[in-house]
Amino acid sequence: MRIRIFDTTLRDGEQTPGISLSPDQKLTIAKKLDALGVDAIEAGFPVISEGEFKAVKMITSEGLSCDVCGLARANKKDIDAAADAGLNYIHAFIATSDIHLKYKLKLTRDQALEKAIEAVEYGKSRGLQVEFSAEDATRTDRDFLKKVFGEVAKAGADRIDIPDTVGYATPEYIAEITKDAIDATHLPVSLHCHNDFGLAVANALSGIRAGAQCAHVTINGIGERAGNASLEEFAMALQCLQWDQKYETGIKSELIYETSRFISKLVGVQVQPNKAIVGDNAFGHESGIHTHGVLSNPLTYEPISPELVGRKRWLQVGKHAGIHGMNAMLEEYGITPTEEQSKQILGQVKVLGDLGKQVTDVELLSIASEVLGEAGIKRIVHLTGFSVSTGIGTMPYAFVKLNIDGEDFIGTDYGVGPVDAALNAIQKITGKISEIKIKDYGLASISGGSTALCEVTVRIEDAGRNKVSAKAIGEDIVTTSVQAVIDGINRIMLKKILKEKLAKN
Ligand code: KIV
Ligand code: ZN
Repeated sequence: MRIRIFDTTLRDGEQTPGISLSPDQKLTIAKKLDALGVDAIEAGFPVISEGEFKAVKMITSEGLSCDVCGLARANKKDIDAAADAGLNYIHAFIATSDIHLKYKLKLTRDQALEKAIEAVEYGKSRGLQVEFSAEDATRTDRDFLKKVFGEVAKAGADRIDIPDTVGYATPEYIAEITKDAIDATHLPVSLHCHNDFGLAVANALSGIRAGAQCAHVTINGIGERAGNASLEEFAMALQCLQWDQKYETGIKSELIYETSRFISKLVGVQVQPNKAIVGDNAFGHESGIHTHGVLSNPLTYEPISPELVGRKRWLQVGKHAGIHGMNAMLEEYGITPTEEQSKQILGQVKVLGDLGKQVTDVELLSIASEVLGEAGIKRIVHLTGFSVSTGIGTMPYAFVKLNIDGEDFIGTDYGVGPVDAALNAIQKITGKISEIKIKDYGLASISGGSTALCEVTVRIEDAGRNKVSAKAIGEDIVTTSVQAVIDGINRIMLKKILKEKLAKN
């Protein structure tokens, strides 16, 4: 069965406290959502501001493949603003629960019903497709809700939506009122579930199981308060869980992670690390038992392959680590310790873990190089020459000579300072070999005075989204920065070569 994905990141998602988007930002997100394969986007609430109106107009003019919808209260002004913004599809709503009628709208049930009918009729008279929502449906008297849905269907509504406005419903109750809505209208029904009790996705799925055809969702589950049902969880649950029938969506699952990160950055709301599908830890393994299992067959501790949603698995060592996982991580960098050396490295990892320290790949590799000595660490990138010049009235300039896998390369470049010039020169060389980018650069001073030691940490990424970190400590900021970057490049290249070797075997 084909399930429709109605994305409301640009409307309910933007109602997340702290989020406010410019028209250009909204258009950029709309294009991303369209590329992801959503069936409809709720572009905004045109009547609320000039900028919102402009954003919706820009989105409706863009010629996207998906349907574009806009929110309107059950009144002529809102519906006119939506139509004037170029929309031919509106999401019209009015609250129907007694608590909203009494304290917010100050209307009787009959008055609210009348407004709902009038809004649908007016929307239709303006040639719009109308999806009708009974706000706070799940706290609305069940018979009254059925009556409202039946009457708006008679008035010409094209679709019915059931909002669980304060996330108050149980999956069982959502199933019951979904069936009521279908019986009363014979129209396509959507669910709009909020996550106040962490049940948004479960509730949306329950509605689908009861016969609904669509769910309103947002990227990363952003939205009012605890948010809305998250697109990535809903779509992947439909696609991957064991149902008694096959569900399909138009979502290009391999774009999920990239879209999630893009939107998280743009709206400034971080994704919690343990969030399903898109959280940092969703495909990460630390404990010895789990990494051992995953290394012999990833399905032991992963319900789906990370690549399905555009991600990569990662392993980390810590106090729960086992020898297999740790050796697998070291192997990624071409390091193969003996049994005795492995035990020593793992012992030191566990000491750090017991001290409450996180053991990143940087720490693991520095422990390994202590135990194995420099000779035990494979190097394919060697710094064979380096100089920088800087001063007043002259632009900082760097010369770098590298030997990569036996071949000599020379790079020169300018920069805003000597470190920048050196890193630019290095990237000029590595850019010729493979696309490597320095994503983060951190500098800390370890002790005081002009002879203080500095610590440089870098994060490097290649075109295949392999990421490594590297750290160097030294007296001179420029040389230490160059050393950290060269170490990082060495690691990422080793990782790549080993992966290619493994793929060939
Ligand atoms: O949660 C809600 O009830 C809404 C309405 C506007 C439908 O977002
Ligand atoms: Zn909502």
